[in-house]
Amino acid sequence: MNENHAVLCASPEWAEHLESEVLEPLVATVDLGDDMLELGPGPGAATRWLRHRVRRLVALELDATAAARLAEEFADSNVTVEVGDCTCAPFPDASFDAVGTFTMLHHLPTQDQQFATLAEAFRLLRPGGVLVGADSLASQELHTFHEGDIYNPIDPARLLVFLQAAGFARVTLAVDLGLRFTAHKPPEEDR
Ligand SMILES: C[S@@+](CC[C@H](N)C(=O)[O-])C[C@H]1O[C@@H](n2cnc3c(N)ncnc32)[C@H](O)[C@@H]1O
Repeated sequence: MNENHAVLCASPEWAEHLESEVLEPLVATVDLGDDMLELGPGPGAATRWLRHRVRRLVALELDATAAARLAEEFADSNVTVEVGDCTCAPFPDASFDAVGTFTMLHHLPTQDQQFATLAEAFRLLRPGGVLVGADSLASQELHTFHEGDIYNPIDPARLLVFLQAAGFARVTLAVDLGLRFTAHKPPEEDR
């Protein structure tokens, strides 16, 4: 992440935005279950909120320095931090009841990696489990904000196609100031 992200994503204003505009509305409509995986936690704004809503939260972060900071903050808590790549996550099939990705998909350099991440989320979910996510819509302002960083915004229509192609059902997609989505792995009896 560039310096703009380091400042914004660690700020109380970002945490407040994420909680009230993203996490609360998303989580109000689904059951997260007991075991959740968060992809790309960064400085941990969503992690701090989510960990009180599940029994166990695993945070998978590509950046080893960010992961080490989080691991220190959440030592002796219900959060486990792992260093790894969400396109090929180091967990067995059907390990989680919920997977979350917040402001992360546009940091994946290619559409193939975005699809691979959604397919990984599907693989990692138990039947009946839910993917919850949010991301930004493309804009010139965000393009500038990402100077020197990866900026690959995901188009809402493509996201919908990717979710369906990965196998998800009961997909909801809200498009307003940003993107918010929920998508379920069908229960065993529907597959
Ligand atoms: C913009 S930050 C978002 C942080 C947090 N989710 C939030 O909304 O505040 C994106 C994060 O995704 C992480 N990331 C990027 N590519 C990743 C990958 N392939 N696997 C796991 N994490 C990744 C980055 O290192 C960064 O911490």
